[in-house]
Amino acid sequence: MTSLKALDPLRITSLLILLGFVTACSNGTCKLLDGCSSDGDCESGLFCSSCLQGFSGSRCIRSTTTDQFNLVNNSLPFNKYAYLTTHNSFAIEGEPSHTGIPRVTFYNQEDTVTQQLNNGARALMLDTYDFDGDVWLCHSSGGKCHDVTAFEPAIDTLKEIEAFLSLNPSEIVTLILEDYVQAPNGLTNVFNASGLLKYWFPLSSMPQNGQDWPSVSDMVAKNQRLVVFTSIRSKQYTEGIAYQWNFMVENQYGDGGMKGGECFNRAESAPLNDTSKPLVLVNYFNSVPVKALTCKHNSAELINMLHTCFGAASNRWANFVAVDFYKRSEGGGAFQATDMLNGRLLCGCDDVHVCTSGSTSGACTPP
Ligand SMILES: *[C@@H]1O[C@H](CO)[C@@H](O)[C@H](O)[C@H]1NC(C)=O
Ligand SMILES: *[C@@H]1O[C@H](CO)[C@@H](O)[C@H](O)[C@H]1NC(C)=O
Ligand SMILES: *[C@@H]1O[C@H](CO)[C@@H](O)[C@H](O)[C@H]1NC(C)=O
Ligand SMILES: *[C@@H]1O[C@H](CO)[C@@H](O)[C@H](O)[C@H]1NC(C)=O
Repeated sequence: MTSLKALDPLRITSLLILLGFVTACSNGTCKLLDGCSSDGDCESGLFCSSCLQGFSGSRCIRSTTTDQFNLVNNSLPFNKYAYLTTHNSFAIEGEPSHTGIPRVTFYNQEDTVTQQLNNGARALMLDTYDFDGDVWLCHSSGGKCHDVTAFEPAIDTLKEIEAFLSLNPSEIVTLILEDYVQAPNGLTNVFNASGLLKYWFPLSSMPQNGQDWPSVSDMVAKNQRLVVFTSIRSKQYTEGIAYQWNFMVENQYGDGGMKGGECFNRAESAPLNDTSKPLVLVNYFNSVPVKALTCKHNSAELINMLHTCFGAASNRWANFVAVDFYKRSEGGGAFQATDMLNGRLLCGCDDVHVCTSGSTSGACTPP
């Protein structure tokens, strides 16, 4: 009798689980995409999140990257690995006002910079301005920071990065500065004051004509673990800070970079297929961030764009993948995208985890 069978308690329970009313796991036992009611329900490396556009209710989704150096090795050139990149890393929800005037601007992230680094972000995009007699991180237009758009003095964030590099002696952090600082030696002074100059990767060691970078193991051995790029060309000559687009190609940022099937360079960058620039950066975020939409953008759409940009960049996979609200996803998100890139870069497979198993099952092509 089908009507009775349909009332079978086991079936009802499965139905309720499917509908998200009952969680079958708790206290750290919930796996990827299991229902959850708090972060503590999820296994380590996951957190409990909703994604209105992706699934109903709350589920455990990824919150950390795979350490590709630990999993595979760090003996290849710096430009043979991919790095999760946070866009406007400093524009953090809940950051208190440091000017005494309430902030009126938008937010791109929800974790502190320390949390971003601890979860595996290895490149940070920071907007630097002259403000209040110092260098500040700020959102603005026209190159001028205002009380209502200022986030914090740059030194505070740089000190967090210094603490991370000091605690993690095998890690490399890249800073990509949208730079509006005009004060002479303004950046050099704030980097010096933060204690970060001791980790500085020198301009003279950066390849100029499309050669590979030094190996990660070499950079670690020399303790040259901070790579900094500025958007102001002249600072390469005045302060020895690398002009970003001498070393990197980059696709269009904002809404213009989110049209499926299209990947073209932003105005300041050489065409993506210019292989004399050995680093490739792919941006994938809206011009104005909307947190509720990022879980969808950071998922299949992002992977698709990385494939499109691979073709546009003369069959080169991105080294930097830049997103807003980096943890938001339908499951794997920007972490899975980074695993895909490292898999492709290191062993020609769609997931870096396959690189160590010697397995050629799954989507692998010869490297
Ligand atoms: C939750 O898990 C931890 C670690 O496995 C254990 O020590 C603790 O007793 C558990 N708490 C509950 C309420 O089950
Ligand atoms: C860094 O600061 C120290 C102490 O103030 C100073 O002696 C040194 O010259 C500075 N270095 C640079 C590169 O500005
Ligand atoms: C690079 O891409 C441009 C279009 O952006 C194209 O005109 C040019 O032929 C390409 N060059 C190479 C070497 O593929
Ligand atoms: C590091 O990993 C790469 C990619 O799998 C491999 O080609 C290379 O031989 C490895 N290097 C060492 C020293 O194991």
